[in-house]
Amino acid sequence: MPKSPRGLSRRLTRYGDDRFARFLREAFLQSAGLSPASFDRPVVGIASTGSDFNPCHATAPALVEAIRRGVTMAGGLPFTFPTISIHESFAHPSSLLLRNLLAMDTEEMLRALPLDAVVLVGGCDKTLPAQIMGAVSADVPALVAPVGPMMAGWDQGERLGACTDCRRLWAGHRAGEIDAARLARAQGHLMPTHGTCMVMGTASTMACLAETLGFVLPGGSSIPAVHSERLRFGEDTGRRAVAMATQAAPTARSLVTAASLANAVRVLQTLGGSTNALIHLAAIAGRAGVTLDLDEVDRVGRATPVLADLKPIGAGFMEDFHHGGGLPALMRRLSASLDLTVSAASGQTLGEVLEGWPGWTDARVIRPLSEPVAPGEALAILRGSLAPDGAVLKRAAASGALLQHEAPALVFEGLDDMMARIDDPALPVTPDHVLVLRGAGPIGAGMPEAGSIPIPAKLARAGVKDMVRISDARMSGTAYGTVILHVAPEAAAGGPLALVQDGDRIRLDTDGRRLDLLVADEELTRRRAGFRPASVPTRGYARLHAEHVLQADRGCDFDFLVSD
Ligand code: FES
Repeated sequence: MPKSPRGLSRRLTRYGDDRFARFLREAFLQSAGLSPASFDRPVVGIASTGSDFNPCHATAPALVEAIRRGVTMAGGLPFTFPTISIHESFAHPSSLLLRNLLAMDTEEMLRALPLDAVVLVGGCDKTLPAQIMGAVSADVPALVAPVGPMMAGWDQGERLGACTDCRRLWAGHRAGEIDAARLARAQGHLMPTHGTCMVMGTASTMACLAETLGFVLPGGSSIPAVHSERLRFGEDTGRRAVAMATQAAPTARSLVTAASLANAVRVLQTLGGSTNALIHLAAIAGRAGVTLDLDEVDRVGRATPVLADLKPIGAGFMEDFHHGGGLPALMRRLSASLDLTVSAASGQTLGEVLEGWPGWTDARVIRPLSEPVAPGEALAILRGSLAPDGAVLKRAAASGALLQHEAPALVFEGLDDMMARIDDPALPVTPDHVLVLRGAGPIGAGMPEAGSIPIPAKLARAGVKDMVRISDARMSGTAYGTVILHVAPEAAAGGPLALVQDGDRIRLDTDGRRLDLLVADEELTRRRAGFRPASVPTRGYARLHAEHVLQADRGCDFDFLVSD
């Protein structure tokens, strides 16, 4: 049986003459200054999401250079190639809308280029999940090199971090508690270095989950972006990628199994991680033919304490987490409930990783099981007549007094309506009201991070800090409050959220995991007869997205990209 082509002989351009295709490929490489002596080495692709529009990835060029050094040291041939890059604050209307485009870009380049293994360089929220989705579908040996988190900032003797404190300070400004001068000064100190947001937001969560799934070399998810250790990690990653290229294993798809996914769910709960991770894990799992069971996520949450004392649930930052022992130290706390036989791209099992990890752990930031930050239920899954296919609440970041709540609804028809009315002094709202935002789901608006609806200005100025808020949108992993997200099916798909009217009573029963619209069935049937779906975009990627995106419980992937 002929050996399958390797290195530069892989995926030759179809001219009808493979020897000519290889000859031409070599000629072009010589034009770029590469000598033929390196042409038979294993080829490692380095997918870079560096972009001037992505400040979180400003250190990507240096990290890529370190990975290249590692590849070359180990006898491989590195090729850096770009894919699109997505930054949370530089993506209109929503970064999630573009996640699947990055996943497709990554997958198609991995299918087209002559590489034996790939290192995925990313970090800002949507990038790592998209890159992993693409790598799993292309099923090549893949490692992830996160760019790493920022260092924490300081202002007026207070330690600050993005974006939990961005939101807190902004809310304080809206409430009239923080003046414009203080806000402007703090703005310059919220993000003092390059890197990803340094709280346990979506970027940190996804880096940790990528490590849990085995894509990141041990401890690599938390090294600060600007530390020299990050570059040494890059070299190690490059060296390991050459070994994977030579062995053609493990492939990305082989790392995503029911067991590794179960480990990731437990780690997510113990991190008190981002609600966005549920969407991304469901999508990554779907690419590997595995299903993320939201009810199992809830069951795991009830039995898993939050041990990472990091904002927004706790007090610390990723640099504390890193110096405190990092993810392997956290996983060691949970080792009795993790599957230690799963393998990682490092070539070790999880059990071997944890056994070899330094024993010291800072119990102030990675708490022992006996002293959790919160006793459990970081992320709770709700179901009920308002969310038949589920919704999520970051319970550990919500106000205890609002977890059992019944009150009338105040409905906003999309973001424009909300922005137009939320601060209107005549808005008929009380602190008791349940604020409802609809038309902000995957089809309706690309599911922006608008679910943490601002407290109406007149209530904020009166000292109201939290209200029950419900939407088919997402929220930043750095945010907090009694915010119910990802209501599925969304309003634009005809979910019950579309039928809510001002004044309808809504009951949140967090203990019972219920979210119900207290309106009679006959009345809902009458309202449903009048429901008209919103129009969707008529061209381009936006049309593809609106026509094929799945609901939040299925990870918002495209229906034609999910594995059988
Ligand atoms: Fe890039 Fe937070 S905006 S990680």
